[in-house]
Amino acid sequence: MRKIPAAILGATGVVGQRFIQMLAEHPWFEIIALVGSERSAGRTYAEASRWVIPGNPPEHVNEMPILPLDASIPGRVAFSALPVDVARQIEPRLAEAGFAVCSNAATFRLEPDVPVIIPEVNGDHIALLEEQHKNRGWKGLIVTSPNCTTTGIVMALKPLHQAYEVVRFMAVSFQAISGAGHPGVPFLDASDNLIPFIQGEEEKIERESRALLGCMRNGRRVDAEIIISAQSNRAPVLHGHTICLSVGFKHKPSPQEAIETLQKYRGPKLTWTLPSAPAHPVIVRHEPDRPQPRRDRDTDHGMVTTVGRVRSCPLLDLRLVSVVHNAIRGAAGGSVLNAELLVAAGYIK
Ligand SMILES: NC(=O)c1ccc[n+]([C@@H]2O[C@H](COP(=O)([O-])OP(=O)(O)OC[C@H]3O[C@@H](n4cnc5c(N)ncnc54)[C@H](OP(=O)(O)O)[C@@H]3O)[C@@H](O)[C@H]2O)c1
Repeated sequence: MRKIPAAILGATGVVGQRFIQMLAEHPWFEIIALVGSERSAGRTYAEASRWVIPGNPPEHVNEMPILPLDASIPGRVAFSALPVDVARQIEPRLAEAGFAVCSNAATFRLEPDVPVIIPEVNGDHIALLEEQHKNRGWKGLIVTSPNCTTTGIVMALKPLHQAYEVVRFMAVSFQAISGAGHPGVPFLDASDNLIPFIQGEEEKIERESRALLGCMRNGRRVDAEIIISAQSNRAPVLHGHTICLSVGFKHKPSPQEAIETLQKYRGPKLTWTLPSAPAHPVIVRHEPDRPQPRRDRDTDHGMVTTVGRVRSCPLLDLRLVSVVHNAIRGAAGGSVLNAELLVAAGYIK
């Protein structure tokens, strides 16, 4: 199979670097363009980027030029790691020009005709693209990945929601510094500290979780009617968001039943053979002090959500802790998997 040409927008940032790492040897996609701001455009990747993740950029990527956003960008898929306001300008233009845009920006996530997808959770929401095509008349499309903390929450809850119906949950997050991009949170604020506020995060968790755990009815997305209370904290951890969850169900499972349900979960069949899909999207740890971000975030190339401490809750029904790699499964890896789903479902040819 000839590889599908891909552009990375925001290629120099924290998420852009993960895109480069995941796509450099990808069996289906080939990086043919890197796009940055005016600060970087015209320079090579090596000159313009400050690599902040483990390893090094591939040699051939280092020599590639960074294109400005207003250039005519080549490619068939655009992996977007742009800031929200920049995404608003450029992503619809690229979709109009025929690109399949796989975006990490929050900009279009909750538009009624834009799928916000985790393939193993709600891959069927891809059907919203029919509505998008009718409404917008684009030759291409936009598909989005959810907020990184939301990803760690709904991957842990989807198997339980499917089996026992979640009716309410409380989520308290401890979010890594890299979630704020580069240069991100100043050292003097982040070190030896916990910051109990992340702009817009709690609203995103509450709204996006309902959308992801919702269902498709008559070609439209219907949000799940779940009562959600989210509290977000920035923690002095480099990568990996930790979320403590208390969950109430319509049909209350025992902790052991919940553990078995989580371990068995594989998601829809269509996702099983996608090149970046982990064999089990949710990994359950049984040690009393796991999951931990440093020890669990990279499990299965950072593409799983690790859950532990599944136990009864005197306030709601069950308590558990979830860890997700914010920039891999919660961002670049999620978008690469979405693009693979688009190929498998025939939306990218
Ligand atoms: N970090 C995470 O864990 C995470 C998780 C989920 C979602 N997201 C979302 O993903 C997106 C990227 O986040 P990030 O953490 O990678 O941010 P970042 O490290 O700050 O990187 C931002 C990228 O956008 C580019 N950019 C900024 N202004 C631009 C402009 N006017 N024109 C063209 N390019 C521009 C930057 O290019 P230059 O270097 O050339 O200026 C850089 O490559 C954001 O929407 C964020 O909310 C991030």
